Amino acid sequence: MKSNLAAIFLCLWVMIACSDHSFKEGKYFAGGKYVTAETLNKGKMTYTEYCMACHGVNGDGKGLSAKGLVPPPRDFTLGLYKFGQVVSGELPSDQDFKHIIKTGLNGTGMLAWDMSDEQMDSVIQYIKTFAPAAWEGKDKKIGEAIVVTPDPFGEAHKSAAIERGKEVYHITGQCQTCHRAYVSKEELSAMNKKINNQAITDFDANLYEVKSQDSQHNVKTVPPDFTWHSVRSAKSVDELYVRIAAGIGGTAMPSWKDTITNEDIWAVSHYIRYLMDMKDTPAREELIKRLQ
Ligand code: HEC
Ligand code: HEC
Repeated sequence: MKSNLAAIFLCLWVMIACSDHSFKEGKYFAGGKYVTAETLNKGKMTYTEYCMACHGVNGDGKGLSAKGLVPPPRDFTLGLYKFGQVVSGELPSDQDFKHIIKTGLNGTGMLAWDMSDEQMDSVIQYIKTFAPAAWEGKDKKIGEAIVVTPDPFGEAHKSAAIERGKEVYHITGQCQTCHRAYVSKEELSAMNKKINNQAITDFDANLYEVKSQDSQHNVKTVPPDFTWHSVRSAKSVDELYVRIAAGIGGTAMPSWKDTITNEDIWAVSHYIRYLMDMKDTPAREELIKRLQ
């Protein structure tokens, strides 16, 4: 009997010892940040409790609750993130991760999480361990934070911003090549005549449809119709400014920071906010009907 018990304890000890994947050493991450083994182990506990169901035991986004989620949970093994306040493709800061986890992503399975600062900081460090090639090593760099400049329009000149934003959206930026257009063909042609001194005679057949795009996240991503779909990472004009300047990492949505002027980024941010305000209103129905 006694030896049976001893054998059982020995078995248990072996099982526990062999399944102990805890961190024994700290790690250096991008930006020269050193994180202790203790922090990583705490982060793993928080992750297992709150995040694993969707993001998966291996961080690959294939957790048990991930089935059927559109968009799917982020695959952390790619080391590629969408919504940092950095030019798309660059590594986000801890502050960016914190913002995303605290705020959640509108209209997705990624809800807002309320946790202690210690849990928050440790889980952020832990998710980096899924992508060692991107994060590990003192030489790796975090992207430079996009600075929100003062809004040149503000509330006082909001309608001028929206008017200019409409031109930036449809002519300067051609956002409708992926997203959809929100003006009639006559209006589009007139705007092009005003800006480029040339009328448009040839229109895309799918001018009023959103065009699904390939992404490096191994899924197609849909450019939102701003009067209908959720904008994931932004509600205010300031947040839209950040997103449009930054782009969306690993997707077709480019960074507009050095492509259009700063003033035009602000103008188109006001215009997108104006489109978002149309959601669920009769004005949207009228507009959509008029453009069919
Ligand atoms: C119910 C499922 C679910 C749970 C639970 C969940 N997430 Fe997510 N998470 C998602 C989805 C879905 C996305 C992708 C949204 C998108 O692509 O627009 C996501 C995206 C993310 C991103 C990527 C942001 C970016 O910029 O690319 C981070 C970081 C993240 N989650 C962290 C966490 C952490 C930390 C936890 C636990 C505290 C957690 N998530 C729990 C579903 C979940
Ligand atoms: C080459 C294709 C492409 C072009 C051009 C493009 N976008 Fe996008 N955009 C996308 C895709 C794809 C998404 C969705 C990415 C995702 O959430 O996975 C997106 C998403 C967005 C979002 C939503 C961000 C969020 O947090 O959900 C905004 C705002 C946006 N685009 C603004 C613009 C503006 C303004 C322009 C023109 C100046 C533009 N886009 C041009 C492909 C494009």
